Amino acid sequence: DLPQKVNIIEVGPRDGLQNEKSPLTIEDKVDLIDRLSKTGLQHIESGSFVSPKWVPQMANSDQVLKQIKRKKNITYSALTPNLKGYHLAKSANADAVAIFASASESFSHKNINCSIAESLKRFESVLNEAKRDNIPVRGYVSCVLGCPYEGEISAQAVFDITQALLQMGCYEVSLGDTIGVGTPLKCKQLLQLLLSQIDASRLALHCHDTYGQALANILTGLQEGIFSFDASVSGLGGCPYAKGASGNIATEDLLYMLNNMNIETGVDLSSLIKVGASISHKLNRKNQSKVGAALSA
Ligand code: HMG
Ligand code: MG
Repeated sequence: DLPQKVNIIEVGPRDGLQNEKSPLTIEDKVDLIDRLSKTGLQHIESGSFVSPKWVPQMANSDQVLKQIKRKKNITYSALTPNLKGYHLAKSANADAVAIFASASESFSHKNINCSIAESLKRFESVLNEAKRDNIPVRGYVSCVLGCPYEGEISAQAVFDITQALLQMGCYEVSLGDTIGVGTPLKCKQLLQLLLSQIDASRLALHCHDTYGQALANILTGLQEGIFSFDASVSGLGGCPYAKGASGNIATEDLLYMLNNMNIETGVDLSSLIKVGASISHKLNRKNQSKVGAALSA
């Protein structure tokens, strides 16, 4: 049976904007998040507390988090690679933080400049402090269906790192198809291994749509019982350390599919389409959401 309700985690303001050549101003980022807040979304990943030398696009995340008009029922979260980032996120009043690991040793080095084992040590100190502060911690695992440097990644490696993050105290782990190379059968096999020991409520899928496979992989996830999915308004996104990685599944496209399957999300498609059209216009790029392009034409 398919889930009746799905959680959508909007990652556009983070994943979507971390790779933009001409970064948005603080004002424009705040405006984007405030508009998204009015669509019914309940979780908006709003920035990253990473090194500004590594990702200058996210350097003003503290100002962004401080200036948005917060709604009570919305979680505004941010990425934190280490304790320094965690402290900055906390002082900017992030409601939740996300640590980000990788199932690929090479990607871990390129993305956060350390081995997987070293990253787990850093994350453990973030989790320990966050537990004391009552700040929920989400986990990411990148490269779950393939790596830009290593190619194939074993499902067992994904399982091991996912289990480690959950045991450390992450409330949920989001499985990242970082470069969008995954296809449904492979996705299904991975999920079946993970779900043999992990409850579906602890997993999310984070599908980049580089090869046009994101919705097919998400449908596979639904069929396996997953009910949390990351998505990015107008399909914004990419990772600066994964060459060629394009945006996440567009939130509009995900919502169109879920609405027509009578799966509840609480998000209003027509208001989201307006936000997607406006941010595409602002960034001077083609709307990457097919649904958005079709319905706002
Ligand atoms: P490093 O250079 O090894 O760090 O970078 P370090 O500890 O040696 O510190 C070097 C300098 O950075 C120092 O400053 C630190 O203070 C500063 P200096 O003394 O040179 O002036 N620093 C920081 N500044 C601000 N915030 C911080 C911070 N930490 C250190 N948190 C580090 C290591 C992890 C910091 C770096 O590699 C980094 O920032 N990486 C982030 C990369 C990133 O953001 N990638 C994109 C997000 S992940 C993603 O997109 C995938 C995902 O979407 C899922 C998927 O699709 O698969 C989540
Ligand atoms: Mg991503």
